[in-house]
Amino acid sequence: MPKPINLIVACSENRVIGIGGGMPWSIPEDTAFFQAQTRGHTVIMGSHCFTEWPSAAEGRDVIIITHDPRTLPPGIHRVSSLHEAIARAQTLRGEIYLCGGQRVYEEGLVIGDRLYLTLVHAKIEGGDTFFPDWRAHFAREIERKDTHDDHWRYSFLTLVR
Ligand SMILES: NC(=O)c1ccc[n+]([C@@H]2O[C@H](COP(=O)([O-])OP(=O)(O)OC[C@H]3O[C@@H](n4cnc5c(N)ncnc54)[C@H](OP(=O)(O)O)[C@@H]3O)[C@@H](O)[C@H]2O)c1
Repeated sequence: MPKPINLIVACSENRVIGIGGGMPWSIPEDTAFFQAQTRGHTVIMGSHCFTEWPSAAEGRDVIIITHDPRTLPPGIHRVSSLHEAIARAQTLRGEIYLCGGQRVYEEGLVIGDRLYLTLVHAKIEGGDTFFPDWRAHFAREIERKDTHDDHWRYSFLTLVR
């Protein structure tokens, strides 16, 4: 039986996920959630995300999608498509988490089983990386926690098809 495929992302109301190679916000509770949710599992991401999160392999199996021949650290799996990444992930530890960026999410949206979405209740100007419109694919909310910190209001949503 193939393992289920999870997507995990934080996006704004206008679906921004990144600006200038980084996150549009710093939300410690969301970072902690992301770290805890993926720990002990296999994470799949594009090469820019790995540049941003080089410590991903601490406690996880990591698959990077890239055509860049540069050497990756030992133990990191390199593949050239999401299809190949998912096939490899079947052989690695725990569940499968698609962690971005934009293209991984776009391709993953149609094959994913579950979406862990931190919806940041703000409209971000100047975003350059986006999450696709998920609502037609993940229509059923099975968990929701509305919360905030000193700077942002956000909701932790778990959605299924
Ligand atoms: N808010 C969030 O939850 C969240 C999550 C993740 C990322 N982000 C943000 O998103 C931005 C990074 O995302 P990004 O979209 O720019 O970069 P990315 O997906 O990490 O990296 C893009 C590169 O990865 C490779 N790649 C990715 N998907 C591929 C696919 N399906 N097939 C083949 N190759 C693929 C290509 O690499 P090569 O050119 O090496 O071949 C492509 O140039 C940052 O700003 C980051 O902070 C936010």
